[in-house]
Amino acid sequence: MKTFREDFYWGGATAANQYEGAWDLDGKGASISDHCTNGSHTCPKRLTVDFEEGTLYPSREATDFYHHYKEDIALAAEMGFKIFRMSINWTRIFPTGMEESPNELGLQFYDNVFDELNKYGIEPLVTISHYEIPYGLVETYNGWYGRECLDHYVRYCETIFERYKDKVKFWLTFNEINAGTMPMGAVLSLGCVKGYTGPVNQVPDEKQVRYQALHHQFVASAKVIKLAHEKYPQFKMGNMTLFATKYPNTCNPDDILKAQRANRRMNWFVSDVHVRGYYPSYMDRFFEENNIDTSYILDGDAEILKEGTIDFFTFSYYMSTCESADPEVSKKVKGNLVGGIANPYLKASDWGWQIDPKGLRYTLNEIYDRYQLPMMVVENGLGAYDKLEEDGTIHDSYRIDYLRQHIAQMEEAVKDGVDLIGYTPWGWIDVVSASTGEMAKRYGFVYVNKYDDGTGDLGRRKKDSFYWYKKVIESNGKDLD
Ligand code: BG6
Repeated sequence: MKTFREDFYWGGATAANQYEGAWDLDGKGASISDHCTNGSHTCPKRLTVDFEEGTLYPSREATDFYHHYKEDIALAAEMGFKIFRMSINWTRIFPTGMEESPNELGLQFYDNVFDELNKYGIEPLVTISHYEIPYGLVETYNGWYGRECLDHYVRYCETIFERYKDKVKFWLTFNEINAGTMPMGAVLSLGCVKGYTGPVNQVPDEKQVRYQALHHQFVASAKVIKLAHEKYPQFKMGNMTLFATKYPNTCNPDDILKAQRANRRMNWFVSDVHVRGYYPSYMDRFFEENNIDTSYILDGDAEILKEGTIDFFTFSYYMSTCESADPEVSKKVKGNLVGGIANPYLKASDWGWQIDPKGLRYTLNEIYDRYQLPMMVVENGLGAYDKLEEDGTIHDSYRIDYLRQHIAQMEEAVKDGVDLIGYTPWGWIDVVSASTGEMAKRYGFVYVNKYDDGTGDLGRRKKDSFYWYKKVIESNGKDLD
């Protein structure tokens, strides 16, 4: 029976906006994340145009990878990482997104990071844009709504491809590109919030704007994938879809159709464009019913999409929810950007995300059946409250349980025939939460002394899960105890 391949890419995932800090050092400009305040489980984080005196903006220091990269990469190496998912901060390279030439100090930082990874034989997996659109582009073009954004992104990619062509092989064009299909995606993912000050979950829901902006991201992604294929044949180019797996709440055909619609709109639409290189026909009806005028799709775009399809498929998976056509069924749960109807067979995390390891096996099979591409799960994990004991230990058995069950289900999927090549659980070291701006919601194998009031000396400590994951990697996924 099949199991994880010998060269399986075990590792962990991060993103610059939540991890790197040093938001205005060495020529870096402000990204959309640098304009977001902290928030909490109950109080949404806010986006502000002007920086408010006395308000905390957690991405600015985050957990300071910028000054700790050597120490952190040594910790990753100690666990046996084969791959390290990170993102490049667009504003470290092009501070407003619109400069003609790049910021050399920013480029040097990532040279140092890639060299350090290479020292330990760790492969970088680079997300080109992970919720870090330059705020300059937000102010000038209303983010991705403006087609001009596309050329700036292409210039950014040309720069980093050429600079790191011998250091990076795996690239993902946009983190969770389908965030743009959801109202909150207008903020971090699309940056269509010119002049907006207020809670990030209360931005006006402008579908016309979002779908136009998303189209520009599709074209941008395809353009740079085409470029990479022509100029850098050694590159492997991937997508990154937030998989919000939806089950029908019952076997009532109305529930089944509703779940199918939701899965198409949230998960398959963007994935189909990336893999097949054209818009799926089921979206026509959606555009019509929602009065979305698609004249933003210009002549020539179809060819670009066709020529820039991906080499491998990646996704994030944290939870699942249900869909119901019955208005009486109202028990809702939260989720990663999008929630849904509660599933009575599942338990939820402290943040209300329903834990569903078998849903990961199901999702891997569904995706592989559709596309037959090599796959990586590039985010998965449990955001939880951790307790730092007086002796400096952190006993996070709940996190180990979550990951153990998900890895076991990944192995089942491999046995089912899925070509799974890597796994990078989210926030392998504690980072700022994307949805709430909190530090209290921790995912890491490594604890960082950093707290919600902005205090903490940024010291790193190994949690119990650190030693456990090291064994998992050493045994190539066989020892999950
Ligand atoms: C994904 C994002 O949506 O989920 C990450 O790609 C994010 O940036 C992760 O941090 C977990 O979400 P949260 O809100 O718990 O940080």
